Amino acid sequence: MADISTSAADKKDKEYFTNVPQEAPGFFLKGSHQYDWGLKNRLSKVFNPKDGRTVMLAFDHGYFQGPTTGLERVDQTILPLEPYADCLMLTRGIQRSVIPASTQKAIALRASGGTSMVSPMEEWEGEIDGKKFKMGRPGFEPLSNESTALTIEEAIRLNACVLAVQVFVGSAYERQSLKNMTDLVDAASRYGIGVMGVVAVGRAMARNAQYFRLATRIMAELGANVVKCYYTEDGFDTITSCCPVPIVIAGGKKLPELDALKMCASAIKEGASGVDMGRNIFQSDAPVAMMQAVRGVVHEGLTADQGYAMYQDLKAKKK
Ligand code: 5RP
Repeated sequence: MADISTSAADKKDKEYFTNVPQEAPGFFLKGSHQYDWGLKNRLSKVFNPKDGRTVMLAFDHGYFQGPTTGLERVDQTILPLEPYADCLMLTRGIQRSVIPASTQKAIALRASGGTSMVSPMEEWEGEIDGKKFKMGRPGFEPLSNESTALTIEEAIRLNACVLAVQVFVGSAYERQSLKNMTDLVDAASRYGIGVMGVVAVGRAMARNAQYFRLATRIMAELGANVVKCYYTEDGFDTITSCCPVPIVIAGGKKLPELDALKMCASAIKEGASGVDMGRNIFQSDAPVAMMQAVRGVVHEGLTADQGYAMYQDLKAKKK
């Protein structure tokens, strides 16, 4: 029965087994033990085999919003963070133009796109109390009208470990974005490259556990090897529990540093396999300090308060 059902026939309580970790016999990463060698090896570069977790640094925002605050000069702001990341999530344009080919970091390559923040809205004209107004047609979401944005040969040339594709469950272009993802899974799996489905949240979609359970599970069922979604205050452990592959959280809009670290710590405690964060790191007052604090929380088991103390200390020392 669908998770959104409210019918009388669907009264049986859900059982998420949030206290029982899913087994991955013979391999450290959730849901990945039956993959081929090459894909396992690439995922082992993204996720640290010692703890099964990752700190991915996301700075692909320019693919639809141009020079985002903090990313005006990626060479100046992101390269100092590179040593502290396990994986770099980026576009091919930035990878070729800015990232040294000598990097040892795993690459999560943006593989969908084709729209922008200023994609034209389909407008309609309405009238209330005799006053005319223009607005976007309900349900029309130009940002979700993406295509795949690179070939598998290009992903191989750029030595990608995973391909990142935006999926807009519940949007006007849901079907197309899911087809983008399954096309990439078909192509990438031929070469042992992973696919990370990224839950994109449109204006009409609720950021709650019910929505993220639905979206993350659909992506995993359709072949995503990793899923990225937002943290929810309520029921995040039910999202990670019923998604059979690793979940990493996006950071979302910039928060005060302590709040961002609390979010990371809670997500890890509730079953996330790591973070794929951008703005909460590169828009911080002290990005290098924040990056190390996030790393401390994800990999070293620091509490949010300990991570924050580390951030303040490193910030004071300008490290
Ligand atoms: C772009 C993305 C971003 O990489 C993602 O949202 C992570 O960045 P942030 O932590 O700034 O939300 O997927 O759509």
